[in-house]
Amino acid sequence: MTADPVERSRLLVRDLRQLATPAGLTAPLRGAALAEIDVIEDAYVLCVDGRIEGVGRMRELGSLEGAVEEVDGRALAAIPGFVDCHTHACFVGDRVEEFSLRAGGANYEELHAAGGGILSTVRATRAASEDELREAVGRHRGWMLQAGTTTFEAKSGYGLDLDTELASLRAIAAEGGIPTYLGAHAVPREFDDVDAYLDFALREVLPQAAAIAEAADVFLERGAFDAVQARRYLEVAQSHGLALRLHADQFSEAGGVELAIQLGARSVDHLEATGEGGVRALAESDVVAVLLPASALFLARPMPPARALVDAGAAVALATDFNPGSAFCESLPIVCSLACTQLGLSPNEALAACTVNAAHVLGRVGRKGRIAPGYDADLILLDAPDWRHLAYHLGGDLVAAVIQGGQVAWRR
Ligand code: NIG
Ligand code: FE
Repeated sequence: MTADPVERSRLLVRDLRQLATPAGLTAPLRGAALAEIDVIEDAYVLCVDGRIEGVGRMRELGSLEGAVEEVDGRALAAIPGFVDCHTHACFVGDRVEEFSLRAGGANYEELHAAGGGILSTVRATRAASEDELREAVGRHRGWMLQAGTTTFEAKSGYGLDLDTELASLRAIAAEGGIPTYLGAHAVPREFDDVDAYLDFALREVLPQAAAIAEAADVFLERGAFDAVQARRYLEVAQSHGLALRLHADQFSEAGGVELAIQLGARSVDHLEATGEGGVRALAESDVVAVLLPASALFLARPMPPARALVDAGAAVALATDFNPGSAFCESLPIVCSLACTQLGLSPNEALAACTVNAAHVLGRVGRKGRIAPGYDADLILLDAPDWRHLAYHLGGDLVAAVIQGGQVAWRR
Protein backbone atom coordinates (compact mmCIF):
# COMPACT_ATOMS: atom_id res chain seq x y z
CA MET A 1 0.00 0.00 0.00
CA THR A 2 1.42 3.38 -0.92
CA ALA A 3 1.05 6.41 1.33
CA ASP A 4 -1.09 9.31 0.12
CA PRO A 5 1.05 11.99 -1.46
CA VAL A 6 1.50 14.66 1.20
CA GLU A 7 0.29 18.07 0.08
CA ARG A 8 3.01 20.63 0.69
CA SER A 9 1.83 23.94 2.10
CA ARG A 10 3.09 26.79 -0.07
CA LEU A 11 2.80 30.53 0.37
CA LEU A 12 4.05 33.03 -2.21
CA VAL A 13 4.53 36.64 -1.17
CA ARG A 14 4.69 38.44 -4.51
CA ASP A 15 5.31 41.88 -5.99
CA LEU A 16 7.00 43.26 -2.88
CA ARG A 17 8.18 46.81 -3.43
CA GLN A 18 11.29 45.93 -1.46
CA LEU A 19 12.80 43.14 0.61
CA ALA A 20 15.60 43.76 3.14
CA THR A 21 17.58 41.14 5.04
CA PRO A 22 20.95 40.98 6.83
CA ALA A 23 23.63 39.96 4.31
CA GLY A 24 25.80 36.85 4.51
CA LEU A 25 25.26 33.59 6.30
CA THR A 26 26.99 33.95 9.64
CA ALA A 27 26.08 35.35 13.05
CA PRO A 28 26.73 37.27 15.16
CA LEU A 29 27.59 40.16 12.84
CA ARG A 30 30.15 42.69 14.08
CA GLY A 31 31.74 45.93 12.95
CA ALA A 32 31.09 46.90 9.33
CA ALA A 33 29.27 43.60 8.65
CA LEU A 34 26.49 44.67 11.05
CA ALA A 35 25.49 47.35 8.55
CA GLU A 36 25.37 45.07 5.49
CA ILE A 37 21.78 44.63 4.44
CA ASP A 38 20.80 43.07 1.13
CA VAL A 39 17.93 44.93 -0.51
CA ILE A 40 15.97 43.45 -3.41
CA GLU A 41 13.46 45.61 -5.30
CA ASP A 42 10.31 44.08 -6.82
CA ALA A 43 10.80 40.89 -4.86
CA TYR A 44 9.13 37.60 -4.02
CA VAL A 45 9.47 35.11 -1.18
CA LEU A 46 8.34 31.52 -1.60
CA CYS A 47 7.62 29.62 1.61
CA VAL A 48 7.19 25.85 1.64
CA ASP A 49 6.16 23.89 4.73
CA GLY A 50 7.15 26.67 7.06
CA ARG A 51 10.58 27.31 5.58
CA ILE A 52 11.80 29.78 2.99
CA GLU A 53 12.45 28.01 -0.28
CA GLY A 54 13.20 30.90 -2.62
CA VAL A 55 13.84 34.64 -2.55
CA GLY A 56 14.49 36.88 -5.55
CA ARG A 57 13.23 39.36 -8.10
CA MET A 58 9.77 38.84 -9.55
CA ARG A 59 11.14 38.50 -13.07
CA GLU A 60 13.23 35.51 -11.93
CA LEU A 61 10.21 33.69 -10.49
CA GLY A 62 9.45 30.64 -12.62
CA SER A 63 5.96 29.20 -12.98
CA LEU A 64 4.68 27.29 -9.98
CA GLU A 65 2.65 24.14 -10.51
CA GLY A 66 -0.05 23.09 -8.06
CA ALA A 67 -1.73 24.90 -5.19
CA VAL A 68 -0.03 28.03 -3.90
CA GLU A 69 -1.55 30.57 -1.55
CA GLU A 70 -0.58 34.10 -2.58
CA VAL A 71 -0.06 37.30 -0.59
CA ASP A 72 -0.06 40.56 -2.54
CA GLY A 73 3.05 42.49 -1.52
CA ARG A 74 2.44 45.56 -3.69
CA ALA A 75 3.46 48.79 -1.88
CA LEU A 76 4.91 46.73 0.98
CA ALA A 77 8.46 46.16 2.20
CA ALA A 78 9.44 42.80 3.73
CA ILE A 79 11.96 42.34 6.54
CA PRO A 80 12.68 39.26 8.68
CA GLY A 81 10.37 38.61 11.62
CA PHE A 82 11.87 40.18 14.72
CA VAL A 83 13.61 38.09 17.34
CA ASP A 84 13.11 39.59 20.81
CA CYS A 85 15.91 37.99 22.82
CA HIS A 86 15.14 39.64 26.19
CA THR A 87 11.63 39.90 27.66
CA HIS A 88 9.96 39.34 31.01
CA ALA A 89 6.61 38.47 29.41
CA CYS A 90 5.39 36.12 32.15
CA PHE A 91 3.84 38.42 34.75
CA VAL A 92 0.41 39.20 36.11
CA GLY A 93 -0.96 42.61 37.06
CA ASP A 94 0.64 45.93 36.30
CA ARG A 95 2.70 48.65 37.95
CA VAL A 96 0.77 51.70 36.81
CA GLU A 97 0.73 53.05 40.39
CA GLU A 98 4.52 52.80 40.53
CA PHE A 99 4.71 54.41 37.07
CA SER A 100 2.67 57.36 38.34
CA LEU A 101 4.92 57.67 41.42
CA ARG A 102 8.01 57.60 39.22
CA ALA A 103 6.48 60.24 36.95
CA GLY A 104 6.25 62.35 40.13
CA GLY A 105 9.94 61.82 40.89
CA ALA A 106 10.11 58.49 42.78
CA ASN A 107 13.21 56.40 42.05
CA TYR A 108 13.08 52.84 40.61
CA GLU A 109 15.87 51.46 42.82
CA GLU A 110 14.37 52.99 45.97
CA LEU A 111 10.93 51.56 45.22
CA HIS A 112 12.60 48.15 44.78
CA ALA A 113 14.52 48.48 48.06
CA ALA A 114 11.24 49.32 49.83
CA GLY A 115 9.68 46.01 48.73
CA GLY A 116 7.79 47.43 45.73
CA GLY A 117 9.01 47.13 42.16
CA ILE A 118 9.84 43.56 41.13
CA LEU A 119 8.50 42.16 44.42
CA SER A 120 5.05 43.68 43.86
CA THR A 121 4.84 41.80 40.54
CA VAL A 122 6.03 38.67 42.39
CA ARG A 123 3.03 38.94 44.72
CA ALA A 124 0.57 39.25 41.82
CA THR A 125 2.22 36.48 39.79
CA ARG A 126 2.29 34.03 42.70
CA ALA A 127 -1.45 34.53 43.17
CA ALA A 128 -2.19 33.39 39.59
CA SER A 129 -2.97 29.84 38.45
CA GLU A 130 -0.90 28.24 35.70
CA ASP A 131 -3.79 28.82 33.27
CA GLU A 132 -3.77 32.50 34.19
CA LEU A 133 -0.02 32.67 33.66
CA ARG A 134 -0.44 31.12 30.26
CA GLU A 135 -3.22 33.57 29.42
CA ALA A 136 -0.96 36.46 30.42
CA VAL A 137 1.93 35.24 28.29
CA GLY A 138 -0.49 34.67 25.41
CA ARG A 139 -1.85 38.21 25.66
CA HIS A 140 1.68 39.66 25.70
CA ARG A 141 2.72 37.41 22.84
CA GLY A 142 -0.20 38.79 20.82
CA TRP A 143 1.01 42.35 21.40
CA MET A 144 4.52 41.34 20.34
CA LEU A 145 3.23 39.62 17.21
CA GLN A 146 1.34 42.74 16.09
CA ALA A 147 4.62 44.64 16.40
CA GLY A 148 6.36 42.03 14.21
CA THR A 149 8.01 39.75 16.78
CA THR A 150 7.86 36.16 15.57
CA THR A 151 10.40 34.67 18.02
CA PHE A 152 10.60 35.68 21.67
CA GLU A 153 12.54 34.73 24.73
CA ALA A 154 10.82 35.21 28.09
CA LYS A 155 12.20 34.93 31.57
CA SER A 156 10.69 33.61 34.74
CA GLY A 157 11.69 35.58 37.82
CA TYR A 158 8.33 36.81 39.11
CA GLY A 159 7.67 33.60 41.01
CA LEU A 160 10.87 33.00 42.96
CA ASP A 161 9.27 29.94 44.56
CA LEU A 162 9.29 26.40 43.19
CA ASP A 163 5.74 26.20 41.88
CA THR A 164 5.47 29.65 40.30
CA GLU A 165 8.90 29.52 38.68
CA LEU A 166 8.19 26.15 37.06
CA ALA A 167 4.67 27.18 36.08
CA SER A 168 6.06 30.38 34.52
CA LEU A 169 8.60 28.46 32.44
CA ARG A 170 5.92 26.00 31.28
CA ALA A 171 3.53 28.86 30.42
CA ILE A 172 6.23 30.56 28.33
CA ALA A 173 7.02 27.34 26.46
CA ALA A 174 3.31 26.59 25.95
CA GLU A 175 2.87 29.98 24.27
CA GLY A 176 5.78 29.37 21.91
CA GLY A 177 8.38 31.37 23.84
CA ILE A 178 11.96 30.38 24.58
CA PRO A 179 12.14 30.10 28.38
CA THR A 180 14.96 31.45 30.54
CA TYR A 181 15.16 30.68 34.26
CA LEU A 182 15.68 34.02 36.04
CA GLY A 183 15.77 32.53 39.51
CA ALA A 184 18.20 35.22 40.64
CA HIS A 185 15.98 38.24 39.90
CA ALA A 186 15.28 39.38 43.46
CA VAL A 187 15.31 37.86 46.93
CA PRO A 188 11.73 37.05 47.96
CA ARG A 189 10.48 38.28 51.31
CA GLU A 190 10.41 34.87 53.02
CA PHE A 191 14.23 34.78 52.89
CA ASP A 192 16.13 37.34 54.88
CA ASP A 193 19.45 36.36 53.41
CA VAL A 194 20.58 36.32 49.76
CA ASP A 195 22.69 33.17 50.12
CA ALA A 196 19.91 31.27 51.87
CA TYR A 197 17.64 32.11 48.92
CA LEU A 198 20.31 31.00 46.45
CA ASP A 199 20.74 27.70 48.36
CA PHE A 200 17.03 27.11 47.88
CA ALA A 201 16.89 28.20 44.23
CA LEU A 202 19.91 26.12 43.23
CA ARG A 203 18.95 23.00 45.18
CA GLU A 204 15.18 22.93 44.86
CA VAL A 205 14.26 24.83 41.68
CA LEU A 206 17.15 24.80 39.23
CA PRO A 207 17.29 21.02 38.59
CA GLN A 208 13.63 21.06 37.48
CA ALA A 209 13.83 24.47 35.80
CA ALA A 210 16.75 23.20 33.70
CA ALA A 211 14.48 20.59 32.14
CA ILE A 212 12.25 23.36 30.70
CA ALA A 213 14.49 26.41 30.25
CA GLU A 214 17.25 26.90 27.67
CA ALA A 215 19.18 29.51 29.65
CA ALA A 216 19.64 30.97 33.11
CA ASP A 217 19.83 34.67 33.91
CA VAL A 218 20.83 36.74 36.96
CA PHE A 219 20.30 40.37 37.99
CA LEU A 220 23.82 41.40 39.02
CA GLU A 221 23.38 44.80 40.64
CA ARG A 222 23.66 46.64 43.93
CA GLY A 223 20.50 45.77 45.86
CA ALA A 224 20.13 42.47 43.96
CA PHE A 225 22.92 39.84 43.51
CA ASP A 226 26.65 40.58 43.69
CA ALA A 227 29.36 39.10 41.48
CA VAL A 228 30.20 36.26 43.91
CA GLN A 229 26.55 35.23 44.22
CA ALA A 230 25.99 35.60 40.47
CA ARG A 231 29.00 33.39 39.74
CA ARG A 232 27.72 30.71 42.08
CA TYR A 233 24.26 30.76 40.48
CA LEU A 234 25.59 30.75 36.92
CA GLU A 235 28.16 27.99 37.49
CA VAL A 236 25.51 25.64 38.83
CA ALA A 237 23.19 26.58 35.95
CA GLN A 238 25.97 25.87 33.47
CA SER A 239 26.58 22.47 35.05
CA HIS A 240 22.92 21.68 34.27
CA GLY A 241 23.52 22.47 30.60
CA LEU A 242 21.90 25.91 30.52
CA ALA A 243 23.23 28.77 28.41
CA LEU A 244 24.10 31.83 30.50
CA ARG A 245 22.72 35.38 30.39
CA LEU A 246 23.31 38.30 32.75
CA HIS A 247 21.54 41.55 33.60
CA ALA A 248 24.55 43.73 34.36
CA ASP A 249 25.76 47.34 34.52
CA GLN A 250 22.17 48.65 34.55
CA PHE A 251 22.81 51.16 37.35
CA SER A 252 26.42 50.43 38.34
CA GLU A 253 29.45 48.51 37.08
CA ALA A 254 29.68 45.54 39.43
CA GLY A 255 31.80 42.99 37.58
CA GLY A 256 29.10 41.55 35.34
CA VAL A 257 30.96 42.03 32.08
CA GLU A 258 34.09 40.26 33.37
CA LEU A 259 32.00 37.44 34.83
CA ALA A 260 30.07 36.98 31.59
CA ILE A 261 33.32 36.71 29.64
CA GLN A 262 34.96 34.33 32.12
CA LEU A 263 31.99 31.98 32.10
CA GLY A 264 31.43 32.14 28.34
CA ALA A 265 27.92 33.58 28.67
CA ARG A 266 25.79 34.03 25.56
CA SER A 267 25.07 37.64 26.46
CA VAL A 268 25.34 40.42 28.97
CA ASP A 269 22.33 42.71 28.90
CA HIS A 270 21.61 46.39 29.78
CA LEU A 271 25.13 47.97 30.02
CA GLU A 272 23.80 51.51 30.59
CA ALA A 273 26.64 52.05 33.12
CA THR A 274 29.42 50.29 31.17
CA GLY A 275 32.64 52.27 30.74
CA GLU A 276 35.51 52.05 28.28
CA GLY A 277 37.13 49.02 29.91
CA GLY A 278 33.91 47.02 29.60
CA VAL A 279 33.50 48.07 25.97
CA ARG A 280 37.03 46.91 25.13
CA ALA A 281 36.62 43.63 26.98
CA LEU A 282 33.34 42.85 25.21
CA ALA A 283 34.85 43.68 21.82
CA GLU A 284 37.51 41.02 22.39
CA SER A 285 35.00 38.41 23.56
CA ASP A 286 32.27 36.19 22.13
CA VAL A 287 29.67 37.57 24.55
CA VAL A 288 26.88 39.53 22.87
CA ALA A 289 26.02 42.95 24.32
CA VAL A 290 22.21 43.05 24.42
CA LEU A 291 21.08 46.68 24.51
CA LEU A 292 17.68 47.69 25.85
CA PRO A 293 17.11 51.36 24.99
CA ALA A 294 13.37 51.23 25.81
CA SER A 295 14.31 50.38 29.39
CA ALA A 296 16.83 53.25 29.60
CA LEU A 297 14.20 55.59 28.16
CA PHE A 298 11.43 54.35 30.46
CA LEU A 299 13.60 54.86 33.56
CA ALA A 300 15.14 58.09 32.24
CA ARG A 301 18.58 56.50 32.54
CA PRO A 302 21.65 57.09 30.35
CA MET A 303 21.70 55.12 27.11
CA PRO A 304 24.24 52.26 26.76
CA PRO A 305 27.46 52.95 24.78
CA ALA A 306 26.15 51.31 21.62
CA ARG A 307 28.24 53.20 19.07
CA ALA A 308 31.44 52.58 21.00
CA LEU A 309 30.60 48.86 21.27
CA VAL A 310 29.93 48.47 17.55
CA ASP A 311 32.97 50.54 16.54
CA ALA A 312 35.20 48.52 18.87
CA GLY A 313 33.98 45.30 17.23
CA ALA A 314 31.62 43.94 19.89
CA ALA A 315 28.64 41.82 18.84
CA VAL A 316 25.51 43.81 19.66
CA ALA A 317 21.84 42.83 19.77
CA LEU A 318 18.74 44.90 20.54
CA ALA A 319 15.73 43.78 22.57
CA THR A 320 12.71 45.32 24.32
CA ASP A 321 13.19 44.11 27.94
CA PHE A 322 9.36 44.05 27.95
CA ASN A 323 8.26 43.99 31.62
CA PRO A 324 5.77 45.83 33.83
CA GLY A 325 8.31 47.94 35.74
CA SER A 326 11.28 49.20 33.76
CA ALA A 327 10.10 48.80 30.14
CA PHE A 328 6.37 48.38 29.48
CA CYS A 329 7.09 48.26 25.75
CA GLU A 330 6.74 45.23 23.46
CA SER A 331 7.65 47.08 20.26
CA LEU A 332 10.92 46.34 18.47
CA PRO A 333 10.03 49.00 15.84
CA ILE A 334 10.16 51.57 18.66
CA VAL A 335 13.43 50.02 19.87
CA CYS A 336 14.83 50.43 16.32
CA SER A 337 13.79 54.09 16.33
CA LEU A 338 15.52 54.55 19.69
CA ALA A 339 18.60 52.76 18.36
CA CYS A 340 18.85 55.28 15.50
CA THR A 341 17.93 58.41 17.48
CA GLN A 342 19.55 57.67 20.86
CA LEU A 343 22.22 54.99 20.37
CA GLY A 344 23.84 56.28 17.19
CA LEU A 345 23.15 53.13 15.17
CA SER A 346 22.04 53.17 11.54
CA PRO A 347 18.74 51.57 10.44
CA ASN A 348 20.84 48.79 8.88
CA GLU A 349 22.66 48.08 12.14
CA ALA A 350 19.42 48.21 14.10
CA LEU A 351 17.76 45.66 11.80
CA ALA A 352 20.63 43.18 12.08
CA ALA A 353 20.78 43.66 15.85
CA CYS A 354 17.16 42.61 16.43
CA THR A 355 17.07 39.81 13.88
CA VAL A 356 20.15 37.76 13.11
CA ASN A 357 22.24 38.81 16.15
CA ALA A 358 19.32 38.28 18.49
CA ALA A 359 18.85 34.83 16.94
CA HIS A 360 22.44 34.03 17.89
CA VAL A 361 21.75 35.00 21.51
CA LEU A 362 18.89 32.48 21.49
CA GLY A 363 20.93 29.73 19.82
CA ARG A 364 18.87 29.95 16.61
CA VAL A 365 21.58 30.78 14.05
CA GLY A 366 20.70 29.54 10.57
CA ARG A 367 17.00 29.30 11.46
CA LYS A 368 15.86 32.79 12.49
CA GLY A 369 16.64 36.37 11.56
CA ARG A 370 17.10 36.29 7.79
CA ILE A 371 14.90 36.02 4.73
CA ALA A 372 16.99 33.37 3.02
CA PRO A 373 16.52 29.81 1.76
CA GLY A 374 16.40 27.26 4.58
CA TYR A 375 15.42 29.79 7.24
CA ASP A 376 12.07 29.62 9.01
CA ALA A 377 9.48 31.52 6.99
CA ASP A 378 8.99 34.37 9.46
CA LEU A 379 8.57 37.80 7.90
CA ILE A 380 7.06 41.20 8.43
CA LEU A 381 5.36 43.19 5.69
CA LEU A 382 5.69 46.93 6.29
CA ASP A 383 3.36 49.49 4.80
CA ALA A 384 6.22 51.75 3.73
CA PRO A 385 7.98 52.87 0.52
CA ASP A 386 11.38 52.03 2.03
CA TRP A 387 12.04 49.46 4.75
CA ARG A 388 14.05 52.04 6.75
CA HIS A 389 10.74 53.75 7.63
CA LEU A 390 10.68 51.03 10.28
CA ALA A 391 13.07 53.16 12.38
CA TYR A 392 12.37 56.53 10.76
CA HIS A 393 8.62 56.59 11.52
CA LEU A 394 8.70 56.84 15.31
CA GLY A 395 5.72 54.96 16.71
CA GLY A 396 4.49 54.65 13.11
CA ASP A 397 2.65 51.34 13.41
CA LEU A 398 3.73 50.24 9.93
CA VAL A 399 3.35 46.47 10.36
CA ALA A 400 0.72 45.48 7.79
CA ALA A 401 1.06 41.70 8.16
CA VAL A 402 3.19 39.12 9.94
CA ILE A 403 4.01 35.74 8.46
CA GLN A 404 5.16 33.07 10.91
CA GLY A 405 6.15 29.57 9.91
CA GLY A 406 4.92 30.23 6.35
CA GLN A 407 1.42 31.28 7.43
CA VAL A 408 -0.19 34.68 7.81
CA ALA A 409 -0.27 34.96 11.61
CA TRP A 410 -1.54 38.54 11.77
CA ARG A 411 -2.87 41.03 9.25
CA ARG A 412 -4.02 44.57 9.87
O1 NIG B 1 15.56 44.05 33.04
N1 NIG B 1 16.51 44.84 36.15
C1 NIG B 1 15.92 43.83 36.42
N2 NIG B 1 14.88 43.29 35.80
C2 NIG B 1 14.07 43.94 34.83
C3 NIG B 1 13.01 44.78 35.44
C4 NIG B 1 12.01 44.00 36.14
C5 NIG B 1 10.91 44.80 36.77
O2 NIG B 1 11.06 46.00 37.11
O3 NIG B 1 9.87 44.18 36.99
C6 NIG B 1 14.90 44.70 33.82
O4 NIG B 1 14.90 45.95 33.79
FE1 FE C 1 15.45 42.51 31.82
